[in-house]
Amino acid sequence: MSRPAGGAPVIDVDDLTVRYGAAVALDAVTLTVRVGEMVALIGPNGAGKSTLVNTLSGILRPASGTVTVTGRLAHVPEGRQMFGSLTVDDNLRLGAWRGRDRSTARIYAIFPELARVRKHRAGLLSGGQQQMVALGRALMSRPQVLVIDEMSLGLAPLVVSDLAVHLRTLNAQDGLAVLLIEQNARLALELCSRAYVLEAGKLAAQGPSAELASSPAVVAAYLGGAAEEGR
Ligand SMILES: Nc1ncnc2c1ncn2[C@@H]1O[C@H](COP(=O)(O)OP(=O)(O)OP(=O)(O)O)[C@@H](O)[C@H]1O
Ligand SMILES: [Mg+2]
Repeated sequence: MSRPAGGAPVIDVDDLTVRYGAAVALDAVTLTVRVGEMVALIGPNGAGKSTLVNTLSGILRPASGTVTVTGRLAHVPEGRQMFGSLTVDDNLRLGAWRGRDRSTARIYAIFPELARVRKHRAGLLSGGQQQMVALGRALMSRPQVLVIDEMSLGLAPLVVSDLAVHLRTLNAQDGLAVLLIEQNARLALELCSRAYVLEAGKLAAQGPSAELASSPAVVAAYLGGAAEEGR
C-alpha cells in the first residue's frame, strides 16, 4: 500500500478538457497524485486514459483546464515503444535525463533479469522483458512520478505479478509516485491505494481502492461481478 495521502501533489489535473478536432476525448477531468502515492486510472477502451497520459507528458495540449506536474515525470508509453533493433543497454541509455548519468547499473540492480540480456536486441525479448526495459528506461531519468500506460497488456499473469512486485518496491523504498493506467482493474485496485474510473472522457467514480472494489457498479463493470459479460 502506498504512503498515506496528504502530501504535496506531484500531478495536479484540474478541469481538463482535451479534444481531437471536434471530438471531446477528455471532459472536465480533475485528478491528483501526491508525493509517494500509487494511484490507478481504470476504464474501458477509448475512455481517454492515454489522452490524459499524453497530456501529462506534453504530447497533447489542453483545450481548457490545467495540468501541473511538480518534479520529474517519466512516461512508460502504451505498447512500450522499444527501439527493437537497439540493444537493451542502448534503449535504457535513451532514457537518461538530458544525457546525464547514463550508467545503467542501477537499473540492472532493480531488474536483475535484464542484466543477462543487456547486449540483446530489445525487439527479440519477451513481452515481460520489454516492459521491464520500458520501465527501466523511464527510471533512468530518476523521476519523482512514473506514469505507466497499460503495464499488463498482453502479458502472462505471472509476469504481471512480477512487475507489480517491482513497482511496489520502487514505491516503498524510493517513495516513487505512480499513476498506473490499467484495463486490468483488479490488478490496479490491488496495487494502488486510490483510483479513478474514466468512462467516455468523464470521471465516473473515484476514491480509495477498497471502496471502489466493493461498489456494485465497479464490480459489475470492471471486476467480473454478477453482471459478468466480459469486456
Ligand atoms: N489521434 C487521435 N485522433 C482522433 N481521435 C483520437 C486520437 N487518439 C485517440 N482518439 C480518440 O479519443 C478517445 C480516447 O482515446 P484514448 O486512446 O485516450 O483512450 P484509452 O482509454 O487510452 O483507450 P485504450 O484502452 O484502447 O488504450 C477515443 O474515442 C479515441 O478514438
Ligand atoms: Mg490507451
